[in-house]
Amino acid sequence: SLLLFIAVFLITADYIKNRRQASFPPGPWAWPIVGNMFTLDHSRTHESMTQLAEKYGDVYSLRMGQEWLVVLNRYEVLKEALVNQGDSLVDRPVVPLLDKTTHGLGVIFSNGHIWKQQRRFALSTLRFFGFGKKSLEPVILDEFTFLTSKSLFTCGGKPFNPQKVISNIVSNVICSLVFGHRFEYTDERFMRLIRWFDQSLQLEASLWAQLYNSFPLLVNPLPGPHKTHIHITNASKDFIREELKEHKKNWDPSDPRDYIDCYLKEIQTSEAQADSTFDEENLVICVLDLFVAGSETTSTTLRWALLYMAKYPEIQTKVQDEIDRVIGQSRQPSMDDRANLPYTDAVIHECMRMGNIVPLSLPHITIRDMQLGGYTVPKGVTVVPNLTSVLFDKNEWATPFTFNPGHFLNKEGKFVKPAAFIPFSAGKRLCLGETLARMELFLFFTSFMQRFTFYMPPGVKPKMEPRFGVTLAPYPYEICATSR
Ligand code: HEM
Repeated sequence: SLLLFIAVFLITADYIKNRRQASFPPGPWAWPIVGNMFTLDHSRTHESMTQLAEKYGDVYSLRMGQEWLVVLNRYEVLKEALVNQGDSLVDRPVVPLLDKTTHGLGVIFSNGHIWKQQRRFALSTLRFFGFGKKSLEPVILDEFTFLTSKSLFTCGGKPFNPQKVISNIVSNVICSLVFGHRFEYTDERFMRLIRWFDQSLQLEASLWAQLYNSFPLLVNPLPGPHKTHIHITNASKDFIREELKEHKKNWDPSDPRDYIDCYLKEIQTSEAQADSTFDEENLVICVLDLFVAGSETTSTTLRWALLYMAKYPEIQTKVQDEIDRVIGQSRQPSMDDRANLPYTDAVIHECMRMGNIVPLSLPHITIRDMQLGGYTVPKGVTVVPNLTSVLFDKNEWATPFTFNPGHFLNKEGKFVKPAAFIPFSAGKRLCLGETLARMELFLFFTSFMQRFTFYMPPGVKPKMEPRFGVTLAPYPYEICATSR
């Protein structure tokens, strides 16, 4: 009877503590203690969350254990929250597993003054290397040439899994940006680094990570995958520290070669400022963040793009015809060609929309009470911007669930970008690498289409359902490629 008493006491206390106030966004009934942990289908969280909006409205709440989440749906609501009232939603909640290794530094999960300084610096440096005289355009084109000159790519027309080579070329662009050099695809250290990033992303999406993040103090002392995560993140940081040591040996402040050089200069020039957050520890975490945010995302989008082209050969042919007409076969594509390739551009955007690789964006947290959709979201509540609800909204797209480049073309065949195209999210935390990602996607995709034709191995149907992880990715697939 004591046990029964404790159980009734806990459930009553939980009920009183966690009751939804009348002004709080509504949502499905939450179980005592665990809340809505089992309301969602964890293999399709983004779809479950989108379906709940049909029933509870565009602003609704869920309780994960003891923590409340508010899920925002559809374009108007996301715009109101992230852009119009963006100041109130600028912070990220603490994610214990990540905080264990990044300690609130870097760009992706930092907040306040650190985030402001680091983001401003990252944006201006990416701009410098993006379009300035140190543009990454030739780096990307050279990377494509390396890939194809090694005849690693086509495998003599036999089926092959393109995942590794795509990861290599995309990671090498980040390496060129931050380290000032690329790696050979056979380089042991490079391959290890890519494996580490891959492994840590998979761990971050695991059920164990969810358990860790809900009960960090309880889980931390136990053996388990979080130890591996901490170990490989520390190993990646050591890798970056080695590069940093090399950079310092022959650093010329008047001629920055890459991101690390620019950062070293920033450390030097801001030394006298008492509130400077530029130091070597922050440099290492920022570089780590660029890899984490910039590699898997862009390479997954490219994997979707090749799969869609194999699924829709007639669309692939139209892209190739346009490229042949505008660029031909005798030179590589350039960013200047984009304006003359509206159909190709539309196809790339449709791959991003359908790929929906960051379906729930990254979490935000309210830094003061907010009024949204007629409800009050109090300070300190985690907010999930459901990008899926925007990218597949039947009120925004003619055929939301069908691949249709027409979504991005007007009657005259000119490229148009609807406002509801927000795979990079919106507002103050908008993806910091959007411009670089777009440049890579355009140059790599047009290069692939210019030089190769992709098709599924005989008798194989492409599997288009995504695999839910840190990103929504295609299941590993094999494809055939022939030179054109
Ligand atoms: C954040 C999408 C590529 C760097 C984000 C967010 C999304 C996103 C949805 C969250 C925004 C928010 O919290 O509201 C994508 C997609 C990509 C891509 C779809 C490729 C197709 C890149 C690349 C880089 C990058 C290439 C870097 C070189 C970042 C960083 C953040 C971020 C640093 C955190 C920004 C902050 O918290 O202030 N991205 N991203 N991303 N992305 Fe990307």
